[in-house]
Amino acid sequence: MLQDVAELSVRKHNISDLSIINSAELRFRFFCFIFIHLFHFFYLYINDNLMKIQYLSLLFLLFSCSKNQEPIVQNQTGNQNHELIAYGKDLIVSTSKYFGPKGSISQTSNGMNCTNCHLEAGTKDYGNNYKAVFSGYPKFRERSGTKESLEKRINDCFERSLNGSPLKKGKELEAMKAYINYAGENIPKNEASETSGIPKLNLLNRAANPEKGALVYEKNCVQCHGKNGEGSLASGNSGNYFLYPPLWGKDSFNVSAGLYRIRNLSGFIRFNMPDNVATYQKPVLSEEEAWDVAAYIISRPHPEKFFKEDWPNLKTKPADYAFKPFADPFSEERHKYGPFQDILASRKK
Ligand code: HEC
Ligand code: HEC
Repeated sequence: MLQDVAELSVRKHNISDLSIINSAELRFRFFCFIFIHLFHFFYLYINDNLMKIQYLSLLFLLFSCSKNQEPIVQNQTGNQNHELIAYGKDLIVSTSKYFGPKGSISQTSNGMNCTNCHLEAGTKDYGNNYKAVFSGYPKFRERSGTKESLEKRINDCFERSLNGSPLKKGKELEAMKAYINYAGENIPKNEASETSGIPKLNLLNRAANPEKGALVYEKNCVQCHGKNGEGSLASGNSGNYFLYPPLWGKDSFNVSAGLYRIRNLSGFIRFNMPDNVATYQKPVLSEEEAWDVAAYIISRPHPEKFFKEDWPNLKTKPADYAFKPFADPFSEERHKYGPFQDILASRKK
């Protein structure tokens, strides 16, 4: 049964479901509908047969154009770029096909797909979606201490979450940008989207515990993600993408990725895993279980890649960033697993 559920979770990202109907098109259909009815009304009053036939063909014409009109994609920047957006979505869903170890464009990532962490191609509420991107970027971020463009943010995930190299400027980067902006274009500039990002769990009064987490993993996660957190490749597609993505080991996200931080990881897991079962409204794990299983995952090995330009201002380094140097006296272990209350309190002084 779990197997079926997971197959489903992969299939649901089919590119053909990019349904784009904007309000202009809806208005057009509405007018066609009204016209058809008006014409029908007059038709009843016509006696001449030839007139009747002419009337009927006009009706037919109207009807067909109301049905078959090509959907128009018009984002807030006024571009009509349906093709680019659809290509961008494909790159987000099938990243591995293009950039994985057997990638058709380059072999420069660990084989994960963006959608493995940005669920439903970055549209799922509370599933680390892209809805706050159009409204928020370019944006100042503490990790780099600079105002970051969307290109930089995409490449951050390539270098960290996909443990790979950044994309060069070109059609692929443009397409990803177009799609990500499209996913959030209903949120006005500088407004937040409530459902985006990763919700944070309440802090525990103790350190999150990898040993307890191992038990949670055994019970709720191992059947998909594997005994060694290695995930598994899809067989039908010449093993070109992960049916179940890896959680640790050489193919997983590296230590500088956002998910390596326990507050992100525990929040993501609680509201989204097991895949297709847990939701924001109906989580499966308790908060404690989510903290502990996240602790277990980051206690296992991850590719070690550091960026010396990260966190130029130590005072704004997040409490759950696990690597020295710190502006406070707490150990790396404490920053990795918590408890966090006193770390946070020490900053307010
Ligand atoms: C291993 C998980 C993982 C993968 C795979 C991944 N990301 Fe991310 N991504 C994250 C996390 C975690 C965040 C930060 C979320 C937060 O801080 O709330 C993030 C943030 C982002 C953001 C900024 C979102 C915002 O609202 O500010 C963008 C854009 C993004 N990722 C694009 C991508 C793209 C494009 C890919 C594929 C090339 C990708 N990501 C692959 C985990 C991942
Ligand atoms: C039914 C199979 C299934 C179960 C059970 C399951 N997952 Fe997942 N998990 C997935 C799939 C599939 C994805 C990728 C989602 C996508 O691409 O839409 C995923 C993605 C993830 C990710 C983000 C991607 C990555 O590889 O880092 C994390 C973290 C994760 N799962 C953790 C867990 C944890 C912890 C549990 C147990 C509480 C769990 N999962 C249970 C199938 C499952």
